[in-house]
Amino acid sequence: MASYQWPLSSSPKPEVLSNFESVFAGSSTLNLELNKVMLDIKSPPPHPLVAASILSADFGRIAEDCRDILDKGADLLHVDVMDGHFVPNLTMGVDMCQALRKHFPDTYLDVHLMVEHPDQFVDMFAKAGANLFAFHVEAAKPMQDTSVDADRLIDRIHQLGMHAGMVVNPPTDVQAIEPWLDRLELVLIMSVNPGRSGQQFIPEVLDKARWVKDRIKPSTRLEMDGGINSQTAIAAVESGVDILVSASALFGAADRVEVIRQLHHIGS
Ligand code: DX5
Ligand code: ZN
Repeated sequence: MASYQWPLSSSPKPEVLSNFESVFAGSSTLNLELNKVMLDIKSPPPHPLVAASILSADFGRIAEDCRDILDKGADLLHVDVMDGHFVPNLTMGVDMCQALRKHFPDTYLDVHLMVEHPDQFVDMFAKAGANLFAFHVEAAKPMQDTSVDADRLIDRIHQLGMHAGMVVNPPTDVQAIEPWLDRLELVLIMSVNPGRSGQQFIPEVLDKARWVKDRIKPSTRLEMDGGINSQTAIAAVESGVDILVSASALFGAADRVEVIRQLHHIGS
């Protein structure tokens, strides 16, 4: 695989994969290749990472399109799960994640849950091979009158061997996520209102990125999602973002290699 990975560990069982061993114990349906190196999101990356949001991939040839984007340098795949309630749109779910894991055993799968009840899907996504389970603060207590308890959900995500991510929408005050900052492997700042790809970047969210960056541990990644292209990504990276999610600007590019190269080189 040509995509950039770091660090080049000599360990035969990277942390993420060894965690999956327990999740997949007894499973014969998924054949993980334990000797390959999985992206280690807990190490600060030497340059911004590119998360290819498969929402803009060609759904008629999804594996080929994902292979193409990874071969051209994308670092991880971002999987947008929408339930038609938390956001009006319906997209993909557990089966897509499982299929991606089967075809890309060594690729980090970043699953972004835009659903009302993320807690109902956490075990399923772990079993399907997700590496990161990111849920919205707007779907949990106390912002929502719901049974979704963020502390319990983070506990469960970690028990299942996944990384925990919390997501904040543009209209939401970023301080809403403060109680959980120490427990997260990733914070995702939405730079569009979630629901579809191809929307315009909202620059006002850059202040939130700076606020988060000042408060997270070096092992916690800061991701931005929505309207990211090689222009808007410059301000995002300057504000502390180290994982850039891109759907339309990446899958729709005439020259995908060049777009990924530009994103990787921001700040250097
Ligand atoms: C929006 C999704 C994004 C979306 C990004 O609800 O969470 O991941 O696919 O699309 P672009 O990069 O086209 O704005
Ligand atoms: Zn997303």
